[in-house]
Amino acid sequence: MAEGVLFDFVGNIVASLASQAIQEIGLASNVGKDVEKLKNKLSAIKVVLLDAEEQQANNDAVKDWLRRLKGAVYDADDVVDEFETEALRRQVEIHGSKRKMVKNFFSRSNPLAFHVKMGHRIQDITERLDGFASDMSGFHFRERLHDTRPFAMIKREQTHSFIRESTVIGRDQDKKNIVELLLKGPPDFNLGGGDGVHHHHHPADQNVGIIPIVGIGGLGKTTLAQLVYNDQSVAEHFRPRMWVCVSDEFDVKLLTQKIIRCANSSDIDCSNKEMEQLQAILRKAVDGRRYLLVLDDVWNDKVEKWNKLKELLMGGCVGSKILVTTRSKKVAKIMGTVGIEAYHLEGLNEEECWELFKQRAFEQGHEPDPKLVEIGKEIVKKCKGVPLAAKSLGSLMRFKTQESEWLYVKNNEIWRIEGDDDNDDDGDGIVRVLRLSYDHLPSKLKAVLCLLRNISQGS
Ligand SMILES: Nc1ncnc2c1ncn2[C@@H]1O[C@H](COP(=O)(O)OP(=O)(O)OP(=O)(O)O)[C@@H](O)[C@H]1O
Ligand SMILES: [Mg+2]
Repeated sequence: MAEGVLFDFVGNIVASLASQAIQEIGLASNVGKDVEKLKNKLSAIKVVLLDAEEQQANNDAVKDWLRRLKGAVYDADDVVDEFETEALRRQVEIHGSKRKMVKNFFSRSNPLAFHVKMGHRIQDITERLDGFASDMSGFHFRERLHDTRPFAMIKREQTHSFIRESTVIGRDQDKKNIVELLLKGPPDFNLGGGDGVHHHHHPADQNVGIIPIVGIGGLGKTTLAQLVYNDQSVAEHFRPRMWVCVSDEFDVKLLTQKIIRCANSSDIDCSNKEMEQLQAILRKAVDGRRYLLVLDDVWNDKVEKWNKLKELLMGGCVGSKILVTTRSKKVAKIMGTVGIEAYHLEGLNEEECWELFKQRAFEQGHEPDPKLVEIGKEIVKKCKGVPLAAKSLGSLMRFKTQESEWLYVKNNEIWRIEGDDDNDDDGDGIVRVLRLSYDHLPSKLKAVLCLLRNISQGS
């Protein structure tokens, strides 16, 4: 596992164990205390995992410890899975009317047997974790909780600049607009030639234009940035082009290292360099060049941190651009250049969304059932143009052939949650959930529906 993966994985389990659905089930089946213990054990171990995952490269004992720990963690994950299934089963029984619709999904189980079985399993895992916890003290791990992002429990994949353009639906106009913004110089400048070297003197800050793309989660900001980055006119216009996935904590040193790595095709090893050396290398890499830097998925709203990094980047020559993607209008405001408006990305239109949904929901080359198509189109309407929603729901419905299953999703309470993206800066209501379900595909429908239920109860 790559660094941080187990940390995130355990974080997800802890979050699930703390969720309302599992808490309720825990109480109802008398294993509440056991669940609590398990959760606390996992939390205690989690704080050293970042350090442990880092250390395993040079320490075989740690590596072995992690490998064994993983077994217990996977078992804990299975427990969560069963709880979620059970929670859903009970929910379905409470809403008797819905029961008919979903009874195909799950076989019934016996509540008493459930309690006994789960009690034993949880105790067994907790005991094993006890063992790992006592080993821990021998390793002298440092405790770290560094993931400071609002939804730290959600594992974000690192993004990269590559995209297969043929997989993208729509976005022609958006791409055109952004490309135009990128190729445009400052208002009073005529860029001319393509040698990439300009020695005009312009007030600092003004040479490098910063363009934020803003929109809720899953809307396609990263995808659009990838399209633009790979556009031929953009590729020819800028040198160097650099793609940095920010996502996690806005750590100036780390980002400086990442940018340097992108800028220099020759490998400079910056892992053991101090900030003083790094800043010099970075400035050398960008100064006097017409560069393009993409900072993908920025969450940081601390002005000082941004200013520190920005200072190192402002030596680029006229026409250099920094393209930022973020969910937050506040972040966009802090980072954006005065006089350049943030680009507020809109959703796809209904047809485009349908296309995305259809590709995933139905088998290629088979004529889909017209009834399912009709319900599917209703489902797609509710995606409000968010490609992630269309994609995830399409995947969710794949191989579901019962009309009742489709109706169940269409009529699910999830749709009553409005993502109020005006007030809530990270506001992505259902999308947050969908992202989870999508990233964890092919996880089963049950887990998704459970999550939906939690959210719709406002927990
Ligand atoms: N126009 C599109 N055509 C096809 N798929 C798309 C399109 N736009 C986005 N997607 C897909 O939807 C998902 C979400 O897109 P993307 O990651 O670009 O969103 P985002 O706005 O960057 O989200 P986040 O705020 O979570 O970073 C991805 O799986 C992406 O491949
Ligand atoms: Mg993104």
